[in-house]
Amino acid sequence: MKIRDLNGQRALITGGTSGIGRATAHALAREGARVLISGRSEERGAEVIAAIKASGGEAEFVRANLESAGEVRALAERAAEVEILVNNAGVFPAGATHELSEAAFDETFAVNVKAPFLLTAAIAPKMVARGGGAIINVTRWARVLQPSSRPFHLAGRPTPKRSRRRSSSSPPAKRAT
Ligand SMILES: NC(=O)c1ccc[n+]([C@@H]2O[C@H](COP(=O)([O-])OP(=O)(O)OC[C@H]3O[C@@H](n4cnc5c(N)ncnc54)[C@H](OP(=O)(O)O)[C@@H]3O)[C@@H](O)[C@H]2O)c1
Repeated sequence: MKIRDLNGQRALITGGTSGIGRATAHALAREGARVLISGRSEERGAEVIAAIKASGGEAEFVRANLESAGEVRALAERAAEVEILVNNAGVFPAGATHELSEAAFDETFAVNVKAPFLLTAAIAPKMVARGGGAIINVTRWARVLQPSSRPFHLAGRPTPKRSRRRSSSSPPAKRAT
């Protein structure tokens, strides 16, 4: 059963070569969307495209390393007309701050923060001009619990709405009398 008919809609899923992004690409293609997936691995990209096409869906792969702002901009141009943007690609180096390198910091912020920022900035105005669209940012439960072992990954993820709502709707603390 289709949850929602996405026939005629186009979707970009970053990190569609693996895990959650791959599953999302399959799900959106099943609903009728034409999906564009991005990633660095051409081999896994080709496998995902072949599997979606074998199930009757429409899919394309674009190789893009999201650590490079130039490649992100090229991807945004290629995906300019999408109605659905799923910012899913993410890296999550484990370790406490003193155990992690500057290179890991740069990679995490480029992929988890800057790439979604650039893609959204380029694509959202075009969605608005066409009357609407959907942007989904994939984050993780650990962002809510905030374990100390993943400082970069957690800093590089927006706080989910749920936790913001909780704090803003929490009753004010009682004053000491
Ligand atoms: N697994 C979990 O427990 C979990 C839970 C909640 C949320 N999440 C979030 O869900 C998202 C996907 O997680 P996952 O577990 O499915 O991860 P995954 O299997 O490791 O997949 C990560 C994806 O990101 C892409 N990627 C990584 N670095 C990239 C780069 N520099 N340039 C372009 N693409 C890059 C990878 O593509 P290539 O390898 O082809 O480059 C891959 O398709 C992440 O944002 C993560 O934070 C994960």
